[in-house]
Amino acid sequence: MHAFSSVPCLPEAASTPLGAEVYRGLTAFPKKLSPWLFYDQRGSELFEAITELPEYYLTRTERGIFEQFGDEILATADAKKLSMIELGAGTATKTRLLLDAAVRRQASVEYYPIDISTTALEEARRRIGEEQPHVSCMPIVSDYTKDMSDVHSISGRRLVLYIGSSIGNFEPAEAAKLLRRLRGQLGAGDLLLLGVDHVKDRFTLLKAYNDAAGVTAEFNRNMLVRIKRELGAKFRPGLFRHRACWNEREDRIEMHLESVVAQEIAIPALELQVSFQRGESIHTENSYKFTPDSVAEMLGRSGFVVRKSWTDAKKWFGVYLAEAGESRV
Ligand code: AVJ
Repeated sequence: MHAFSSVPCLPEAASTPLGAEVYRGLTAFPKKLSPWLFYDQRGSELFEAITELPEYYLTRTERGIFEQFGDEILATADAKKLSMIELGAGTATKTRLLLDAAVRRQASVEYYPIDISTTALEEARRRIGEEQPHVSCMPIVSDYTKDMSDVHSISGRRLVLYIGSSIGNFEPAEAAKLLRRLRGQLGAGDLLLLGVDHVKDRFTLLKAYNDAAGVTAEFNRNMLVRIKRELGAKFRPGLFRHRACWNEREDRIEMHLESVVAQEIAIPALELQVSFQRGESIHTENSYKFTPDSVAEMLGRSGFVVRKSWTDAKKWFGVYLAEAGESRV
């Protein structure tokens, strides 16, 4: 008897991160795909375009807070020989304002941007090298959601930046776990600057994820374009419609891709056939929104204490400076 020969084997592509995610997500019920799948080259460009849309207030509101309060933030952090670390830094365009504010207080600053994208980090380093001579930029290519040990190995007092409401992509329990892991990498008195989008009227929220120019729809659908290209799937992404809705109970915007027809999709690399009913959707993203209380609660559960926070005139976005507490959790 060859017991093992009868065990069905998954094709090789199912063991790559992309293949595994697509296999898991499209065989689940309800179907879902994880937001990190958005960010291939094209997806990153589309996200950049989103940040400039009139409806997408998040990026420019947070930048406004940094413009107005950058010096106060660094003063509250008592910046003296502070090293700055950024989780998911990308090209670090908004960070410039905080780095400038740090340089005004302590003459020079070591900056460690962490990101999975080598090209984004290269651009960050090139730009900072040209424009900010008092910042020494030391990029770290890593997936901080899996491994944060780099944070531990950076010496001196640390200020970790986690801005852009990236934390909003995680379920509350996952977000708390991530922050707790971060806390474990820090010493008492180290700091976290967390940027989050606030709960607000549903009309404003929905517009930000349903822009008139359709860029967010293309960003959402790009996930399918990518699956088509990288896994050789055969279907028309145009047969899926972008949908964003506000889940009031969970305080989150949800993005879905809804099949406008009943269809069967073949994904040869995964030896998989996926069938969709008409109107059936793939849940592609959660974007959690916060209140000052829910932020303080999340940080508190993770071993941080809020020291001070800043917001814009409409209170649409919040920037929270928190301190790693005495005892580890
Ligand atoms: C990068 C996670 C902050 O949730 O607003 C933008 C991603 N999705 N438009 C967000 C996104 C649709 C964005 N984050």
